[in-house]
Formats: sequence, C-alpha cells, structure tokens
Amino acid sequence: MNAHTQTPSHSAYANTAEEAIAAQDALDQGVMTSDAATEIAMQNTLLTPRFYTTDFEEMDAIDVTPVREEWDKLIAQMKSDPNKGHFKKTDEWEADWEGMEPALKAEFIDFLISSCTAEFSGCVLYKEMKRRGSNVDITTLFQLMARDEARHAGFINDALREAGVRVNLGFLTQQKKYTYFRPKFIYYATYLSEKIGYARYITIFRHLEEHPDKRFHPIFKWFREWCNDEFSHGEAFALLLKTDPKLTQSFSNKLWIKFFLTAVYSTMWVRDHQRPLFHEALGVDVTWYGQEVFRKTSEISKQIFPMTLDIDHPRWRPNLDRMEAASRQVAAGKARGGVGGTITRIGGMAKATYAFAALYTIPAQKHVVPANPRMQPAY
Ligand SMILES: [Fe+2]
Ligand SMILES: [Fe+2]
Repeated sequence: MNAHTQTPSHSAYANTAEEAIAAQDALDQGVMTSDAATEIAMQNTLLTPRFYTTDFEEMDAIDVTPVREEWDKLIAQMKSDPNKGHFKKTDEWEADWEGMEPALKAEFIDFLISSCTAEFSGCVLYKEMKRRGSNVDITTLFQLMARDEARHAGFINDALREAGVRVNLGFLTQQKKYTYFRPKFIYYATYLSEKIGYARYITIFRHLEEHPDKRFHPIFKWFREWCNDEFSHGEAFALLLKTDPKLTQSFSNKLWIKFFLTAVYSTMWVRDHQRPLFHEALGVDVTWYGQEVFRKTSEISKQIFPMTLDIDHPRWRPNLDRMEAASRQVAAGKARGGVGGTITRIGGMAKATYAFAALYTIPAQKHVVPANPRMQPAY
C-alpha cells in the first residue's frame, strides 16, 4: 500500500471520497446532527439538487482511444492534485455568523446546504461509477472527481457546522431518492453543471476581488481553486462526449442538448432569484449575474456543443421571469395545501411548462465545434 492508508484528519487531505466522508463524519461524532439541514438536503423538487444513478455498465464500456492524448494529459493533471489541502480553514477564515442579519443568514445557510448537496450529489455518482467499473480509464477519472467533490462538500460542511447546522452525508447517501438518467443524459447534465459551476464560482470570486467589502463570509476566498476543480471535471466530460460524435451531432441528440441547456439555465435563474438578500449582500444584481454566468457557460460550451442558447433574444428574459413567477405560485400552492392549494399548484406548473416551451423554441445559435475540445480556465 502507499503512504495514505491512515485516514487523513481532514477531508481536504483525503485521497479518496471515502476518506473525505470518514474524516467529515469523525468531526461530528458525538456532536450534533442537524435534522433540519438534512431534511432540506433530502428534498426532491425540480429546483433542489438531486442524486443520480445510471447504467454504469454502459458507462464503463466507453473507449477513450479517440481522445487518448488529451485524456492522459488531463488525468495526469488531476492526479498531480494541485488543490490537496486547500479545502480547509486557515488564518484567513473569519466568519461572523452572529453579526449576520438573520434573514441573510437564513438565505446563506440555504445556499450552503444546496451547494453542499449538489457537490455531494456529484461525489455519490462518481464514487459509484468508480466502484462498479472495471475500465481503468473510467474508474481512475471518476475516483479523482469523487475525491474533489467530497472535499468540496466537506468544506461547505465545515462552514455550516460553525452556524450550528450540518448536512449528514452518510445519511443522505443511504436515504435520498436517486433519479435514473441514461448515460448520455448524465454526460449532458453533468458536463453543464460542472461548467456552470465554474462560471458561477469564478464570477462571484472576480466580483469580490473588486469589492472586498462585500465579502460577508470567508468561504468566497476559496472559490478560485474550487472552480478550477469544476473546470477540470467539465473538461473530462467534454472528452467523454468527444469519444462518440453521435452524442453531439445527431439530430435527436441536438434536441436533447438544447433541452438540457434550457433546463439548467432556467433552473439556475429561478433558484438564484429566490435568494435576493444573499445577492444584495454580495452587491450582485441577480439578473446581471444570471446573464453573465450564462454568457461564460455558453462561451465555454462551444468546445463541445454545436449550439448555444440565444440569451439576448427578446423572448428569453420575459420567459425566465415567467418561470420564476410560476415557481412561486407552485410553492404557494404547496404551502397552502387542500383543494385550493392543489389548484394553485397545478396552475403554476402549467405556466412553468408554457414558459419552458417558449424558451425552448427560441432559435439556437449554431457553431462549428473544434476538433480538440480542451480549454484552459480563462475567466
Ligand atoms: Fe465540486
Ligand atoms: Fe465538479
């Protein structure tokens, strides 16, 4: 065995996802577990991060020969592990939870729980692929990505723990409902969520570089290295997509790509608009932020997708706003309950479907995809 047979004391130093989870669990031994936080993380709605399962055998059968050269470079870079030890508190960490406005604190905690669940969702999926696979290329990649996501989730949990909340990662793995996605849908959805994750984190990081007075919590200082991990994960999915040209070139798959672009962008828009105080505290106009993140993600996704959404189209913004209003109506209906609540909720769902269709039918912008998809993070 190599040198890391001992469980590292902190998830930041973990070499595998399992070590990171064990290190996090050890921190909570005998302390509290927060039912409320875990309960939020357990929710399965259209807007909350889900856990996914897939056809692992089909994924294990991927042959990376067509992208071998780039693949080996990327794996070597991930193995060199530039962010080992990064995701832990340092002297720079000064969190002032008491000084935080209660309403802001509530939104920020909600943001952290949802981010932690999303990070952990990636971890669980990648870890499972690693466990079930026998294709060394695939299992190596997924082990490395699971390691990163477990560190990310662990670090957010560190932040939450200080506020007296904690997402129980072990419990979530066992109890949260898993949604089945065919492998190709996993590629589209995961590629996009990694790249949009990069764009989100780097946009906040750059904004706070210019406005350090708005950095109301230290975790934002860690966002640059963080988003570089997500960028690499996205690169890996771009290469996986490149192994089979049909995945991005056939007529029906292009329709699916457009579907996932629309779904991922509109979900982000709706979710972010539900946290006005959080964005106000950062000094970020949430509408500007949404468009800026879409712009960066679209620019990056040209590496592999033959189309981008027309986010400057006159129908774009109004229908995102309609989606948001519809989602508020659904939530209000749910909260109200009874027959009246159900009618409100169904009405909201119909409006959301209509708005989604209006977004989906905006003509996309077509692009010629480069032969080599590899990119470096440039923002
Ligand atoms: Fe992550
Ligand atoms: Fe990631």
